[in-house]
Amino acid sequence: MPLQTTLSLAKKTLKPIDDEVQFIRSWFEKPLSTGSVIPSSKPLARTMARLVDPELPGPIIELGPGTGPVTEALVAQGVDPSRLVLIEFDPTFCRLLRKRYPEATVVQGDAYGLRRLIAGLLQQPAAAVVSSLPLFTKPLQTRLRLLFEAFHLMSPGAPFVQFTYHAVAPIPKRLDRVRAEASERIWMNIPPARVWVYRRD
Ligand SMILES: C[S@@+](CC[C@H](N)C(=O)[O-])C[C@H]1O[C@@H](n2cnc3c(N)ncnc32)[C@H](O)[C@@H]1O
Repeated sequence: MPLQTTLSLAKKTLKPIDDEVQFIRSWFEKPLSTGSVIPSSKPLARTMARLVDPELPGPIIELGPGTGPVTEALVAQGVDPSRLVLIEFDPTFCRLLRKRYPEATVVQGDAYGLRRLIAGLLQQPAAAVVSSLPLFTKPLQTRLRLLFEAFHLMSPGAPFVQFTYHAVAPIPKRLDRVRAEASERIWMNIPPARVWVYRRD
């Protein structure tokens, strides 16, 4: 893609410059855990948020919200911020999220210990888990454990939503009693990405 087109795409689809600066800083400090150099674009964030039905009752858990582009899309989709449980590793992002979404519950910690981390926090089953974690930095067993911990916290049939830059599924698509579907590739993101949704039958 020519540089000019890339820059104009970036201008149209990216979050405010401050968020990008914070994000790049986090990437320099912890590239494996940040997983990306810049925040997700609006088209990617919207694709993830559309898989969440705001009419279904219960909290909505977001893993790795970073500076909040997916959070913003969830709120734009009709999710009340008070329903959001945002689990983020990076303390700077947590501060930013608490300021931006004072009604949300922001938990600083390791999302791979999901059940233990939010034990006692949920009053009812979650309506969705929406993840931007860089899953491929973790062994398959850890990814599977995360998926099944998420299922344990959600209503039956509720979605586990995950984006990836990779061509293959971030969690194998053929699992017993699990339905997995992928979106088209979203080109309006740097780099282009795909969104996967997993539901337990
Ligand atoms: C690829 S970024 C996505 C950020 C944002 N959701 C977006 O789409 O722009 C991954 C985020 O996950 C966070 N993260 C990585 N590992 C984590 C973990 N084990 N627990 C919680 N958050 C984690 C990082 O700090 C970063 O904010």
